Amino acid sequence: MILTDTHTHLYSEAFEADRDAVIERALKAGISRFFLPAIDASYSESMYALQRQYPQHIHLMAGLHPTHVKENYKEELKHISAALKIRKFVAIGEIGIDLHWDKTTLKDQQDAFRFQIQLAKHYKLPIVIHCREAFDEVFEILETEKSSDLFGIFHCFTGTLEQANKAISYNMKLGIGGVVTFKNGKIDQFLSQIDLSDIVLETDAPYLSPVPYRGKRNESVYLLKVLEKVADIYALEKEKVAEITTKNALDIFKTV
Ligand code: NI
Repeated sequence: MILTDTHTHLYSEAFEADRDAVIERALKAGISRFFLPAIDASYSESMYALQRQYPQHIHLMAGLHPTHVKENYKEELKHISAALKIRKFVAIGEIGIDLHWDKTTLKDQQDAFRFQIQLAKHYKLPIVIHCREAFDEVFEILETEKSSDLFGIFHCFTGTLEQANKAISYNMKLGIGGVVTFKNGKIDQFLSQIDLSDIVLETDAPYLSPVPYRGKRNESVYLLKVLEKVADIYALEKEKVAEITTKNALDIFKTV
């Protein structure tokens, strides 16, 4: 069984003490493909180093996370443009809008999101969207930017069935992670109405651990708990769900 963690922050400080052990545990369980979303320029070097260490398993994205859109965001965007010219990335992410932490930066977040979508189109790369308490704002930009070369993943999808279908209509797959195992996570109630070809699995480690690890540090091996729950929802064998979601990830990231 090959599983793909389409969203994991393996370079995070949270893994400082045992990063190699964390990766080993995941590899042993069949989780052999890790897609690392970027946050800001301060993490670039550690991401590159990790990819050099695990070139067959680790794939990198370039991007500026919406909660890291600060006064210097134009500098950050320049860093991304420059990196894209000299390195191979599999996606632009994670990008989007987050109104949970800071509403005052909305204008700059919108500007950064739009700029990065245009970069993705230019390089024919998928985007990985972070959306928190900002569905209307994210959809508004997708509506103006939509085109056949705009596609990607709506990471950590937590919306309604209607919002799920809307995201899919913009060529997005839904990133399903720990929230699907939460009692109050809601998405488990309608997920079976979404075609399995429209979802990918993710952990968002070190955040959002699935049950029974909720509240603790998340890591990629816990993707097994997400897989279990998704297989349950679709009444399919785990192997089948692993196979289909890995294929979906491949279709997006175009990398083996
Ligand atoms: Ni993330």
